[in-house]
Amino acid sequence: MKRFLVLGVVYMWVMASCQHKPTELNVPGIPKDTSGTGGNKQPCDSTIVYFGRDVLPILNSNCAMSGCHDAGTASDGVVLNSYDKVINTGKVVPFDLNSSDLYEVITEDKPDKIMPPPPRPKLTATQIALIAKWINQGAKNLVCDEQICDTVNISYANMIGKTMTTYCAGCHNANNPSAGVNLSNYEGMAAIAANGKLIGSITHAAGFKAMPQGGKLPACEIKQIQKWVAMGYPNN
Ligand code: HEC
Repeated sequence: MKRFLVLGVVYMWVMASCQHKPTELNVPGIPKDTSGTGGNKQPCDSTIVYFGRDVLPILNSNCAMSGCHDAGTASDGVVLNSYDKVINTGKVVPFDLNSSDLYEVITEDKPDKIMPPPPRPKLTATQIALIAKWINQGAKNLVCDEQICDTVNISYANMIGKTMTTYCAGCHNANNPSAGVNLSNYEGMAAIAANGKLIGSITHAAGFKAMPQGGKLPACEIKQIQKWVAMGYPNN
């Protein structure tokens, strides 16, 4: 009898300690980080939001910079530079937009609550919608195999400018032109296309600042920008 009692106590202790394992994700249904597993990736589906491809660049460019939510600063204990870090904030509740603080702060209208804080610009409606869709699809870390790279219909308005909004403009806009560079409009882009810094920075060439901070653009976007610059960076 005594032995059963001891076993019971041990069992309860093990169960209790398991429940508080810090590495365990507190939200059920979130798969572990599967990025970089490669090999068996599915082709990309246009109705699905892929965290690494679609959401992370927005967070990197608008939130995870030095002074805000990078690993070094971690304002409010929040770090937003990887899938695990984002999920571990507890501020994303899969399938539940209303309970997701991350969504609340980007849609907030009170100036002292909204993120990014003024004078940094608000996320665009498209970026907000994408984050909402990601949460509504379960805030998963899905990866896919991008099979098509359009290097024919090169356009500033429909392609290059959009890439800049996603990956660069959060740190390079009129209110926050890091290194004096504003990439939220054509003029700013044309200037760094002309002086070679655009290609130098995105290809991480020696002697240039490697950009974007926190990673490299996908190979397709690099090819498109190279083509656009080679064409004489038209404002088309
Ligand atoms: C997280 C913030 C952040 C993101 C995202 C970012 N940059 Fe930067 N960028 C900076 C900062 C800060 C500097 C100044 C760097 C320094 O002096 O070390 C800089 C410097 C540069 C420079 C160098 C200017 C010079 O005079 O040498 C270029 C060019 C540049 N960025 C282009 C880009 C492009 C293109 C992207 C997107 C593909 C991008 N950046 C994304 C923060 C960022």
